[in-house]
Amino acid sequence: MAKKHEELIDILTKDHKEVKSLFEKLLKEEDPDNREKMVKKIHQEIIPHMAGEEAALYPALKNTDKGREIALESLEEHQVAQKVLRELIGLPGNLENFQAKGTVLQELVSHHIEEEESEVFKAFKKEIGSSEAGDILDKFQEEKSNTKESMKQPAIPEETLTAW
Ligand SMILES: [Fe+2]
Ligand SMILES: [Fe+2]
Repeated sequence: MAKKHEELIDILTKDHKEVKSLFEKLLKEEDPDNREKMVKKIHQEIIPHMAGEEAALYPALKNTDKGREIALESLEEHQVAQKVLRELIGLPGNLENFQAKGTVLQELVSHHIEEEESEVFKAFKKEIGSSEAGDILDKFQEEKSNTKESMKQPAIPEETLTAW
């Protein structure tokens, strides 16, 4: 496997591992405040990763014969997972269905990761040349870190708004 392919696959796999372990912690967590914090942490990790894939990897695969279908399917899975994640972020950690929703999200994400690590990576290695793989790697990193940065911007506190 060419070096750039390997580099991107390593980064993605590492991110996946991190997210999987966060979900394991979330589903074991009993304290409502900690549950809410864990969901926020998952959000901070998962959104930049997904944004990077959507900006760099999926568009490149969509342009290939064998990668098109799996890229479209992966994108749909991102959207469904993000919808459930948004619902979970608004929920108090002591609600009865909090962990049920968390479990559903974990299942969606695990399934997505499995497909990504098999079919998406396979198409990436087969269909994408090494110079394009380098561009995809750079774009992924750039989009991921820009998204991370923009998520760090603190929201304007409500008191500041109502003080006017
Ligand atoms: Fe991924
Ligand atoms: Fe993904």
